[in-house]
Amino acid sequence: MDFRELLKVRRAVREFQDREVPLSLIREIITDSCEAPSGGNNQPWAFIVITSREVRRRISVESKRNILALINAEPESALAKYKPILELDDFDVFYNAPALIYIAGPKTVRSAAVDCALAAGYFMLSAADRGLGTCWVDLGSAISSSELKEEIGLPDEYTIVATLALGYPVRIPVRPSRSDPRILKVVT
Ligand SMILES: Cc1cc2nc3c(=O)[nH]c(=O)nc-3n(C[C@H](O)[C@H](O)[C@H](O)COP(=O)(O)O)c2cc1C
Repeated sequence: MDFRELLKVRRAVREFQDREVPLSLIREIITDSCEAPSGGNNQPWAFIVITSREVRRRISVESKRNILALINAEPESALAKYKPILELDDFDVFYNAPALIYIAGPKTVRSAAVDCALAAGYFMLSAADRGLGTCWVDLGSAISSSELKEEIGLPDEYTIVATLALGYPVRIPVRPSRSDPRILKVVT
């Protein structure tokens, strides 16, 4: 696929086919993600792959609960607009995607958030190139339960940077509009 075509098909996908993504394919996409640049070539990213629907469901419930608590504590928070949907019992923040990927970095590495976000960008493009859909789901990153963290293998020293739902898209969504680039100045 031509790069510009790839940019068009990489959309936030929120409807997935009921079809598993082979682990071997997920591994290939992760390998592509690691081609991302990183500060000092530190490559601080670490990946967690979850294909268990039952675990995914529990994470969705936990994350929704934590974000709702945050909204209730801070009603002016930018997250407050999600309250109505988060209160729906049957709303799965991961849109029933068959796979869920966390990209996490060590809390001690200064550039970890940027590095992991770059890896996430590569991940989403690699997945789109392979006919898969992704959605970065920040609403699915609020895990506070230490039991759950242990179950999914997230060490205390790591923080989640990117949460990606992954699966075969039902369709490629229409491109949401983009504002004109805000170029503050061209200095010649
Ligand atoms: C940091 C970040 C967090 C996001 N969190 C969510 C989310 O929690 N739920 C969701 O449905 N989409 C989420 N998205 C997807 C955006 O809504 C989507 O990328 C944006 O609307 C542009 O659409 P496009 O990706 O198709 O170009 C997130 C995207 C980013 C980059």
